[in-house]
Amino acid sequence: MNKQPVILVTGGARRVGAAIVRHLHAAGCAVAIHYRSSAAEADALAQELNATRADSACTFPGALESDNTPGALVGSVLAHFGRLDGLVNNASAFYPTPIGETTAAHWNDLFAANARAPFFLAQAATPALREARGAIVNIVDIYAERPLAGHTVYSMAKAALVMLTQALARDLAPEVRVNAVAPGAILWPASGKPEEAAEALIAKTPLARKGEPEDVAEAVRWLLMDAHYTTGQVIRVDGGRALNI
Ligand SMILES: NC(=O)c1ccc[n+]([C@@H]2O[C@H](COP(=O)([O-])OP(=O)(O)OC[C@H]3O[C@@H](n4cnc5c(N)ncnc54)[C@H](OP(=O)(O)O)[C@@H]3O)[C@@H](O)[C@H]2O)c1
Repeated sequence: MNKQPVILVTGGARRVGAAIVRHLHAAGCAVAIHYRSSAAEADALAQELNATRADSACTFPGALESDNTPGALVGSVLAHFGRLDGLVNNASAFYPTPIGETTAAHWNDLFAANARAPFFLAQAATPALREARGAIVNIVDIYAERPLAGHTVYSMAKAALVMLTQALARDLAPEVRVNAVAPGAILWPASGKPEEAAEALIAKTPLARKGEPEDVAEAVRWLLMDAHYTTGQVIRVDGGRALNI
């Protein structure tokens, strides 16, 4: 069995997920890096981390919209590392769903990554997490509290993930703690953001800047490793933005 605590991070190959992976690894964890299409980035990251500590990182593919993926993914992580101490539900789909243009396929896609897979991953991981006295961190969004205009289905799916956090905190206690991190503006979507919209968003953020992926990663680390008496909480990492929505 692996001696280091083992944490599974979904969507861990790039962007915020990769920052979470790096930060947890630097804190002494072994990391299971899940990815769907970013195989090259996931492999490069695992190689980099294994070069600093042998056998401390491994990659695991999986399309989270598939029914079989959560069970298979947790099974593969346990087969490789022999234990599981933490699950970070970071993978996410994000795009607008304007009224009149939204299809059932959009709904299924947005709910699959943001709410459905996190539930089934948590369910599959529960026996191992109970045994390890582990923890789950769900990456939600400040827009789970108050909807983002034009993004009804995304906002609904993240609100479901907040409810999952609270419900599992009750159902998995006392062995497993379950919390969430709600980022504000950290990285603009890969598709970009119009400059004016970006400036308007920063203008409504009390700390007057975007956050760094490492800010999210440190909140995740704290909730996983040090927040021994905290469960069912959502920690905003948003520069105060939610105060001004
Ligand atoms: N970026 C921000 O400023 C911001 C703000 C608020 C909340 N958040 C939340 O913070 C988290 C990280 O944000 P991010 O911007 O870094 O996320 P992202 O780039 O939008 O997505 C992260 C990863 O999710 C994976 N993914 C998406 N759909 C999937 C599916 N059906 N099956 C498997 N994997 C899937 C993708 O992996 P592959 O690349 O391998 O396909 C993708 O790289 C997300 O939960 C997001 O909602 C971010």
